[in-house]
Amino acid sequence: MVDIRLGARSYTIRVGTGMLDCLSEVLHGRRGLVVTDSNVDRLYGAPVMLRLGPEWGKVVLPAGEATKSAPHWSGLLEQMAQAGLDRQGVLVALGGGVVGDLTGFAAASYMRGIGFVQAPTTLLAMVDSSVGGKTGINLAAGKNLAGAFHQPLAVLADTNTLATLPGREFAAGMAEVVKYAVALDAEFFGWLEQNADAIQRREPAALEKMVVRCCEIKAGVVAQDEREAGRRAVLNFGHTLGHALEKATGYSGLLHGEAVALGMPFALACSIEAKGFSPKVAGRVVALLHKFGLNIARLKPPGLDWRELRAAMERDKKAAAGAIRFVLCDRLGHCGLPEVIPPEDLDALLKGWCQDVVGQ
Ligand code: GLY
Repeated sequence: MVDIRLGARSYTIRVGTGMLDCLSEVLHGRRGLVVTDSNVDRLYGAPVMLRLGPEWGKVVLPAGEATKSAPHWSGLLEQMAQAGLDRQGVLVALGGGVVGDLTGFAAASYMRGIGFVQAPTTLLAMVDSSVGGKTGINLAAGKNLAGAFHQPLAVLADTNTLATLPGREFAAGMAEVVKYAVALDAEFFGWLEQNADAIQRREPAALEKMVVRCCEIKAGVVAQDEREAGRRAVLNFGHTLGHALEKATGYSGLLHGEAVALGMPFALACSIEAKGFSPKVAGRVVALLHKFGLNIARLKPPGLDWRELRAAMERDKKAAAGAIRFVLCDRLGHCGLPEVIPPEDLDALLKGWCQDVVGQ
């Protein structure tokens, strides 16, 4: 169990095998809707509905990022109204990041805010998107441009669900796991190196320990800075180039975690330049990513133009007044707030990266 301490909005993250069985415990007899997608519904919809009972309804959305849209959000609100949900009503987000973000935003906006429970079924959702209260949808102009901070009532991360997660999605989740270790916890990085085989075999004990540690790290950061006024931005380590790559590939070529896996070695190349980060340690990070199926050379989209990437970084919603900022590390497990690196240095590094000489 990991506690997120946010005063009246505090809640508990329960991690482990069979956690979906605890749903009724955290719902305290309240009634509502389970929101899921077609893939997750096929695997876990029926047992969850059986546990919740006939008072509960279910909304099954199409699987995929396109669902995180205004039409699906307003459609969900209409279904909530048709189901007669009042302010005591509650939603359960059963699925990955798309389901969690959309459901959370519907809960945040229905009747000016009702409760919801996150039941993440992907690694990325367990270690990142279900924790910390960021909810939202994409607009045509960009990802996550409409949203709200709305903390869940509880998070139930049932690690049994990771057994059915496709390999590519598991690897993408591992990118966010490695992010926590590189940016914030050197000891955890060593543990990941030592336990990489057990993690790759998806051994339940290793997975549980790993998810708990990520949630603990994120809980600590969110408790200090719930609304990303400062410190929470460290969670964007690897995301400056990552977001630009997602944008440059039309949000279809790379999974978010894959883009972050590409962004981290680049952020370390910037850290070597600006902070004296050890190139040898950067090599260990790349080796660990490879071990988790995140082969940088293979993931890298071909034919990228460094100017296009720089333009995408300038337009990112996290770039204040067009200033491109990177979370940089001075040593393993130790990063600072995002900072601007001199434009000429960034251009040189980006050119080098596009020509395969930086951050491999
Ligand atoms: N995914 C970064 C955050 O929750 O702040």
